[in-house]
Amino acid sequence: MTQEAYRERFGARLHKTEERLTQLCDAYLPAGEQIGAAARYSLLGGGKRVRAVLTLAACDLCGADETQAIDYACALEMLHCYSLIHDDLPCMDNDDFRRGRPSCHKQFGEATALLAADALVTAAFEVIAHAALPAENRVQAAAVLAKAGGARGMLYGQELDKRYETQKASERQLLALHAHKTGALICAAVQLGALAAGASALTEHALTTYASELGLVFQIVDDILDVTSTTEELGKPVGSDRELEKTTFVSLYGLEGARHLAEQHNRTALAALDRLGDSADFLRGMAEELLKRKQ
Ligand code: IPE
Ligand code: IPE
Ligand code: MG
Ligand code: MG
Ligand code: MG
Repeated sequence: MTQEAYRERFGARLHKTEERLTQLCDAYLPAGEQIGAAARYSLLGGGKRVRAVLTLAACDLCGADETQAIDYACALEMLHCYSLIHDDLPCMDNDDFRRGRPSCHKQFGEATALLAADALVTAAFEVIAHAALPAENRVQAAAVLAKAGGARGMLYGQELDKRYETQKASERQLLALHAHKTGALICAAVQLGALAAGASALTEHALTTYASELGLVFQIVDDILDVTSTTEELGKPVGSDRELEKTTFVSLYGLEGARHLAEQHNRTALAALDRLGDSADFLRGMAEELLKRKQ
């Protein structure tokens, strides 16, 4: 797939996601109240939508109309957005900018930001409950999202992330941290797409292997950008990790070492797609783009 074709498909999926997110906000997050206004401010105010696009792409790869997965994709973006609002709070990373503007708590105050994030996570499950798919499929989707976002997934990763501010982590511990805090939702992205499409276990397995490696690459690159980028380009503060003395692959191995590791995991991600043939070309393009991303 040419880079132009990849960009066009990414753009189309992004557009579809934005449109549906706006509709879902109108249904579940009324703008008239502070909670709704704050949730909409954070959810509709940018974001690369990598997870939603992965869900749609996985559904398409599995041979179904990707629109079938749109509500699962949006539910995942809602849950991801809640995690970002909490991540920026003073008791977590204490970051004042997100997606190019003041963080939710800077704009609306801590209490409203906390509640808006809670509203996003509950809305995510409401969206799944009402998705236009068979009931059994929706139950499974709720289970996938809850597991990935909960105390065995992203939240555990956040716990580890806090722990390794005061304690040094080994490479193995850092990989476990990344796999949970970032990898879990990226794995859920492809799993939700495969689920919406009714994919075979074999295909789902290949997609999950790809996504768990991609999740590691994504977080290693995030840690690199925290050192090499600018707030303007990233839309969030740089130097945040160092300020909090977090252990990252950059603090452990330096920039070159971290880049090398990201490339290594990128190769493993691509290898997982081998048996899926040409149908996985978009996901190959995504791996390449996420490795060299600047935002
Ligand atoms: C930021 O995620 C948090 C991490 C897991 C590194 P993204 O980089 O996907 O953030 P948005 O959604 O594009 O703002
Ligand atoms: C956060 O990781 C991952 C989440 C679960 C939200 P970071 O703390 O590195 O994300 P950024 O850099 O603030 O986006
Ligand atoms: Mg954090
Ligand atoms: Mg952070
Ligand atoms: Mg970061």
